[in-house]
Amino acid sequence: MTLINLLKPNSECASDYVPVILAPMAGVTDIAFRSLCVSMGCDFTFTEMVSAKGIHYNNAKTRELLQISDQESPCGVQLFGHECDILAETAKRLYDAAQGEISVFDINMGCPAPKITGNGDGSSLMRNPKLASEIISAVVNAVPIPVSVKFRMGWDDNSINAVQFAQMAESSGASFITVHGRTRMQMYAGNANREIIAEVVRSVSIPVIGNGDIFSAKDALDMLKTGCSGLMVARGAQGNPFIFSELRAALDGSDYTPPTNSERLDAAIKHIDSFMENVMRQSRNPAVFVELRKHAAWYTKGMQGATELRRKVNTCASSDELKHLLEEFKSRI
Ligand SMILES: Cc1cc2nc3c(=O)[nH]c(=O)nc-3n(C[C@H](O)[C@H](O)[C@H](O)COP(=O)(O)O)c2cc1C
Repeated sequence: MTLINLLKPNSECASDYVPVILAPMAGVTDIAFRSLCVSMGCDFTFTEMVSAKGIHYNNAKTRELLQISDQESPCGVQLFGHECDILAETAKRLYDAAQGEISVFDINMGCPAPKITGNGDGSSLMRNPKLASEIISAVVNAVPIPVSVKFRMGWDDNSINAVQFAQMAESSGASFITVHGRTRMQMYAGNANREIIAEVVRSVSIPVIGNGDIFSAKDALDMLKTGCSGLMVARGAQGNPFIFSELRAALDGSDYTPPTNSERLDAAIKHIDSFMENVMRQSRNPAVFVELRKHAAWYTKGMQGATELRRKVNTCASSDELKHLLEEFKSRI
């Protein structure tokens, strides 16, 4: 099956359609940001990584991460954990409750953060392919929808195993995989390695999504040369949901006009409105609005007066105040 049909079973896109996907980003890709990206041409979204254990034990904060908007539905849910039964049971429980809003479960085997790898989760599973395989099979057997795996090229330079890991994922039942061309030890340093992604594409039959350092149309077209079936963007979308229109235009060979500062600020204000409506209203924690500060800084990066604005943003006390600051800033550009 083509990647777009695995992601969106009802899609009528041509079989060679290359979906451009928003990567899961903890603390960034909430329902408000994901919906905004979809409105700008993003083909598919994943929730940020969600602890399978957190869902299993009914943690309210973890549940808040699982809201899905009509606009993005169906979307992918990314789970992390290392206990097969908990991951499988959580995926089944979420699938049963989702009423068609979830079309894919992704398993995080790439997160490099020490608090995640220290528990045996995320990229530490690249050092334990046997357990990784058991986890994939358990989740595949638990739900009737595609299961994917997102991982890096290896743990460190001395243990690059993306090709073997990809083959293991395929034989364990994964429907597609996403590869970020860096090792765990690299974190986000250096450049993402595209050659390893090309090697993975050549060694499996399932679709491969290429990820790492896609910040422009040129980067996207370079990534496409690996033979990957889809493109996944993370940091390139921060403060720039417009990147999805830019990449779609590049893939279609059509023209793209970058947004003006005023349009960027309009997007930021829309983002705040959606956050207030969808995240703050549902959350038990009023301080959740501080998540918006970093977005405001990203949207205004490089604009004249942005440093002074950032100072004010970092001390403002509410989302209303933040919105007001951006509106005032916009009126002066
Ligand atoms: C702030 C931040 C949070 C992230 N959170 C997740 C996550 O929850 N799950 C995941 O698989 N990857 C996560 N990632 C990794 C990204 O999905 C992506 O693989 C990585 O940033 C490389 O893509 P890029 O070069 O387009 O940024 C995160 C990255 C960033 C910068």
